[in-house]
Amino acid sequence: MEYKLLILIIAFATVKINLTESRQNDKRRWKSDKSLYSHYVNICDIQDRISKVHCYCENIKIKTATKADCWVFNGGIAEDDPFWSNFYSQPMIEKLSFNVRADGGLTYIPAKIIVRLERLLILNIQYANIYSIPSFAFTNSTSLREIMLPKNKIVKLDKMSFAHLIMLSNVSLIDNQISELQRDVFYDLPNLQRLFLSKNKIEVLHDGCFKHLNNLIKLDLSSNVLAVIVRENFQGLSNLISLDMRNNKLMMIGDLAFTELWSLQELYLDSNEIEFISERGFGGLTQLRKLSIADNNLGVIDNNVFGDVKKLNVLDLRNNELETLKEEVVQNVIENFKTNYALIALAGNKLNCDCSLSWLHKLSNETRSRRVKTALARLSCISDIKLPNTNYSKAEKMMDSSHTLNSMAYKKTFEKMYEDGEGNIEDDPVYEDTLQDQESELPSNKIEYRRKLLHIPAEMLPCPSKYSFEASFSPPTQDEVKYYKSSSSKVVTASLSYMMIILFNMT
Ligand SMILES: *[C@@H]1O[C@H](CO)[C@@H](O)[C@H](O)[C@H]1NC(C)=O
Ligand SMILES: *[C@@H]1O[C@H](CO)[C@@H](O)[C@H](O)[C@H]1NC(C)=O
Ligand SMILES: *[C@@H]1O[C@H](CO)[C@@H](O)[C@H](O)[C@H]1NC(C)=O
Ligand SMILES: *[C@@H]1O[C@H](CO)[C@@H](O)[C@H](O)[C@H]1NC(C)=O
Repeated sequence: MEYKLLILIIAFATVKINLTESRQNDKRRWKSDKSLYSHYVNICDIQDRISKVHCYCENIKIKTATKADCWVFNGGIAEDDPFWSNFYSQPMIEKLSFNVRADGGLTYIPAKIIVRLERLLILNIQYANIYSIPSFAFTNSTSLREIMLPKNKIVKLDKMSFAHLIMLSNVSLIDNQISELQRDVFYDLPNLQRLFLSKNKIEVLHDGCFKHLNNLIKLDLSSNVLAVIVRENFQGLSNLISLDMRNNKLMMIGDLAFTELWSLQELYLDSNEIEFISERGFGGLTQLRKLSIADNNLGVIDNNVFGDVKKLNVLDLRNNELETLKEEVVQNVIENFKTNYALIALAGNKLNCDCSLSWLHKLSNETRSRRVKTALARLSCISDIKLPNTNYSKAEKMMDSSHTLNSMAYKKTFEKMYEDGEGNIEDDPVYEDTLQDQESELPSNKIEYRRKLLHIPAEMLPCPSKYSFEASFSPPTQDEVKYYKSSSSKVVTASLSYMMIILFNMT
């Protein structure tokens, strides 16, 4: 009997302790706990037609909604408006969105509700008019995992604007007006993995601006106006796997620009204005597998550019100004292009049909990648050799085509093959354009022929080599003149712009 009573007393005491504890919590949370939720309007069930905010929730009952989509209407709502406290009516919200329907409707991050919604995981605000994000705007929330702020006209990110958010893993600031990233904007975010900054006006990355983001995996800086990148920009990003810098204004890639990115596997540099990649431009990128530099102005690629990039197996160089791609450039990675999922894309360049491309025949034969085979089968090259006015039997001449590369007979055979092959040139629309542009600049008596590279047997590709040029004292062919002119002028312009950039940086 006494024993039972004791148990009862203990049980009662525990209940009481729990009760007082939770009350205290509630007090802390809601300040006044008289008629706890009753004097707040249920934000999921707003009857007032002139309310500036309306929310749609998956559960309307008080204290049950986990998801609220709120619309902010004309006139907007001030930061200290008593309306905000109505969010007390739905403390279980995990996912909260604001769609702002008129300019100026919401000019700040509603910190008041973030601090009180202890279960908030995802905050999404769009079409607001938020000029800047102040320090600690997200109130050191320990629950927030995702902050999405697209299309809010944000210009300025203050230091510590994203700080002390231990669970935060995704941040999107896509489509705002941010022009620079200072240091310490992103601070103490131990779980941040994805940061989206595309479609802004970012022109300047201050050294170390990502310094605290050691666990970032994906960084999207595409569609900004970055013209220069240096090693210091990427300090701290030692776990970054994917960097997207498409559609910026980059003109060159200087030595060791990405060397802080030890783990990088994918680098997208498409649609910039890159003319030059310095010899160690990709230095340190030992894990890189995918490199995309399509739609730039690359004229030459230095032999050692891929020296460190030993795992590369996807390379996209489409729509550049390349006249050749020597085997030496890719010798480090050529075995990778023979594996199943490899890709090498070179369409839309001005490749010359010469023996420096003969390695592509071999690659096409040896690769297991269907994508490589297809891309190479479609690849065209250009030759400016004139059509012969003498007829040759193709078979006959092919037999005696020794490698006396300057021999007139050889040339003619080669030319004849062009003629024969003209009928089966497939159309490549992008390429057609560049070709036409080029043709219009040529003297009228000069015609260029475009052939599928793989339709020309490797041993028939002429070698405009220095050796043959000097050894035979015949005047240089148009082919050779063109080759030398273009390759040397490219190098000169490239190094000139490099020097200019260095000078520019020093001043
Ligand atoms: C967040 O935490 C930092 C560092 O502990 C502190 O200085 C700051 O005042 C806090 N801000 C808010 C809004 O809680
Ligand atoms: C972060 O974004 C990725 C891809 O955009 C998504 O798959 C993931 O679920 C998001 N994580 C969180 C915690 O929101
Ligand atoms: C590619 O393979 C074909 C047929 O298998 C062969 O005739 C040709 O010589 C090979 N070419 C090279 C460059 O290895
Ligand atoms: C080339 O061959 C065509 C027919 O195959 C012939 O009509 C023409 O006269 C030949 N030209 C010369 C230069 O032998």
